[in-house]
Amino acid sequence: MSGPDTGGKAWGGRFHGGTDKRVEAFSESISYDRRLYRQDVAGSIAHAHMLAAVGIMSKDESAAIEKGLLEIQADIEAGRFEYSIAKEDIHMHIESALIAKLGDTGRKLHTARSRNDQVATDSKLWTRDALDRIDQLLAGWMKSLVKAGRRHQNAVIPGFTHLQRAQPVLAGHYFLAYVEKCNRDRSRVADCRKRLNELPLGAAALAGTSLPIDRQMTAKSLGFDRPAANSMDVSSDRDWAIESVFVLTMIQLHLSNWAEEWILWTTSEFGFLALPDEYCTGSSIMPQKKNPDVLELTRGRAGRVVGDLMTLITVVKGLPLAYNRDLQEDKEPLFDAFDTVEACLALAALITDGARLREDRIRARIGEGFLDATALMEALIKRNIPQRSAHELVGRLVGLAEQKGCKLADLSETDLKSVDARLDGSLRDELGVDHAVAGYQSEGSSAPGEVDRRLKHWEIQLGLKN
Ligand code: ARG
Repeated sequence: MSGPDTGGKAWGGRFHGGTDKRVEAFSESISYDRRLYRQDVAGSIAHAHMLAAVGIMSKDESAAIEKGLLEIQADIEAGRFEYSIAKEDIHMHIESALIAKLGDTGRKLHTARSRNDQVATDSKLWTRDALDRIDQLLAGWMKSLVKAGRRHQNAVIPGFTHLQRAQPVLAGHYFLAYVEKCNRDRSRVADCRKRLNELPLGAAALAGTSLPIDRQMTAKSLGFDRPAANSMDVSSDRDWAIESVFVLTMIQLHLSNWAEEWILWTTSEFGFLALPDEYCTGSSIMPQKKNPDVLELTRGRAGRVVGDLMTLITVVKGLPLAYNRDLQEDKEPLFDAFDTVEACLALAALITDGARLREDRIRARIGEGFLDATALMEALIKRNIPQRSAHELVGRLVGLAEQKGCKLADLSETDLKSVDARLDGSLRDELGVDHAVAGYQSEGSSAPGEVDRRLKHWEIQLGLKN
C-alpha cells in the first residue's frame, strides 16, 4: 500500500487527494445498507470458495478469507465494528476490515467482482429471506382468520355493497373472503421469489470478466436457481425490488381494507365488534374513549408502502443501462416496505385472534335494511316470473314496506296482492335472513355447506386440522 493519500478509497489509484466531506455525507449508504452485512459476508464467502475452486486463489487464501469474514460478522453482531461514512457502504466496510486483517490475501477478494453485482446479490439475498418471512406471516394471519371464521361460522351478518346493507351472509364466509386474498398474496410472494432467484454475482461491473469464474458454483452455494443470463441486465436490474414492493403494497392494501372495516365495526353506530383492551388506547381528555389505534395505523401505513413503491419505480424510470448510482436509492424504500408490512401482519393476526363479533348486537338489527329482498326476488323467479319483472315487483314491495315502516315479512296478503295478483301469503316463507342464507346454493356462495367446506379446506391446508 503506497502512493499519494487518497483517503483509503477503493478507487485510490486514479485520484489525487480524498473526497470532500460533504460529498461523503451526501453519498454514503452505510447508515442503512449496514443491514446487509450478513448477506455481504455470505456472498463473499461463496465468491472466495469459487475463486479457489477455479484456481484464482489458493484454498488457504479462501479459508483465511472465510475465517476473517466470519470474525467481522461476529464483531458487527457484538457491536464491536466501527462504521465511517468515508467507507461509503457495507461492501467497502467489510472488505477494508478484511484487508486490515489479512493484507494482500484480503486484497484478492474483490477479484472478478464489482460492487454492482455485489450489491444486487446482497439485496436479493436479503429480499429472499424477507419474502419468506412475509409468507409465514401471511400464513399466520390466515390461520387467525380461519379460526375466527370457525368461531363465528353461522352468525348471520349483513353483507355490504357501497357500504349499504345488501344481502345476508354467514360470518364464516366473511372471514374466508380475507383468507382468499391472503392466499393470492402468498402466491404473488412465491412467484416473485421465483423470478428473483437468479444470481447476479459474476456479472462484475456490467460486462462480465475475462477471469475463468464458475457462476454455476456460486449460484448453487447461495441457493440461487441459476446465474442471471445477461451481465448488463444484472447491473441495472431492480425488477425484483419493485415487484416485491408491489406484492407488499397489495398485502398492505388488503390490510388497510380490513382495518377500515373493523374501525367502522367497532363504532357504536355499527357495534359489530369488540377488540381486546390491550390492542386499543384511550384518550387523555375523554375518559370513555377506547380507540382502535392499531387498526388506524395499519390503514395509515398503506400510505407509506404505496409511497415506497412510487419511490422505487420513479428511481428506475429513465435510467440507461447499466448500473447508475441512482440505484442506491432502492434500499430505504425496500427495507421500509418490508418492515412496515411485517409489523402490520404480525399485529393483524393478534387482533384477529382477540376480536369477538358481537353476535347479539348484530342479530338485534339484522331485520333492518331489507337484506332478504334479493332472496324474495329469486323466489319469484323460481315461480316463473322473469327477473326484470321480479326485481320491479320486489322493489315496489320494499317501497310499500318502507312507507308502512315494517319489514317485508310483515306485509299482509292484501299488501302483496295489491302489488301483483301472482303474489300470495306463501311467499312470506321465503323471507327473513336465515331463510335467505339457507337458500344460497352456488359454488363460492355463502351457503352454509359451502362455508363449512371451505373452512375445512383451509384448516387442512394451514395445518390447523388433519
Ligand atoms: N452502495 C452502492 C449501491 O447501493 C453500491 C454499488 C456502488 N457501485 C458503484 N459503482 N459506485 O448501489
